[in-house]
Amino acid sequence: MRVSGVERTFQVGGRPLHVLKGIDMELPYRKLIMLKGRSGSGKTTLLNLIGGLDRPTKGEIWFGDLPFHEMNDDKRTHIRRKEIGFIFQAYALMPMLSALENVELSMRMAGTPRSEWRERAARCLELVGLEKRMKHRPFELSGGEQQRVAIAKAIAHKPRLLLADEPTAELDSQMAAQIMAVFQNIIRTEQVTICMTTHDPTILEVADHVYEMVDGKIS
Ligand SMILES: Nc1ncnc2c1ncn2[C@@H]1O[C@H](COP(=O)(O)OP(=O)(O)OP(=O)(O)O)[C@@H](O)[C@H]1O
Ligand SMILES: [Mg+2]
Repeated sequence: MRVSGVERTFQVGGRPLHVLKGIDMELPYRKLIMLKGRSGSGKTTLLNLIGGLDRPTKGEIWFGDLPFHEMNDDKRTHIRRKEIGFIFQAYALMPMLSALENVELSMRMAGTPRSEWRERAARCLELVGLEKRMKHRPFELSGGEQQRVAIAKAIAHKPRLLLADEPTAELDSQMAAQIMAVFQNIIRTEQVTICMTTHDPTILEVADHVYEMVDGKIS
């Protein structure tokens, strides 16, 4: 993935708000890339662009050889469902479904054949260390366990890119360290690239590369 000269301007009250002012970055295959920067510096805005949820005002976003900056919403959504996994700070799990069923849901969305759901969901939950919690519903799980279900859910359809917006923000340092161990394990075993945002200096240490956002640019 390559981001080049990306700008994003919002219209607020009839006036332009320049949030991203020329971002260049690369997300090399099977690397763990982190984005840091003060609150309001544009981290989530950039992550949304990389994930095809939003389009830049200016500049280019290449997902492999696909130009996200030129594609319409339908085309980007199609690619996103198949190739990208998202983890947000709030876990976005369905309360009535078990961990296993929650993970299966993302494969339904991605169009994975139904016959593959059960085995792949179990494999992903195993990967995040939850093989003993598959039947639990979200409220029967701890915060860190719920976040691990969210990770299993985000990787179940075998995306090439995993995006995570402050995935450890709600967790204590021990659970945060566990989540990072899971990420490193996933990069080794699942051929995925991970890009995440964080404020936590101890977590930044495990990154392959850290980009810092200052005043709408990468410093
Ligand atoms: N849809 C929008 N319309 C107008 N302004 C927006 C929109 N989305 C974001 N902004 C503004 O862009 C700036 C960057 O927001 P963003 O959410 O990217 O920051 P962030 O770095 O993720 O902050 P945090 O660390 O608090 O999550 C903020 O000042 C915000 O008000
Ligand atoms: Mg944010």
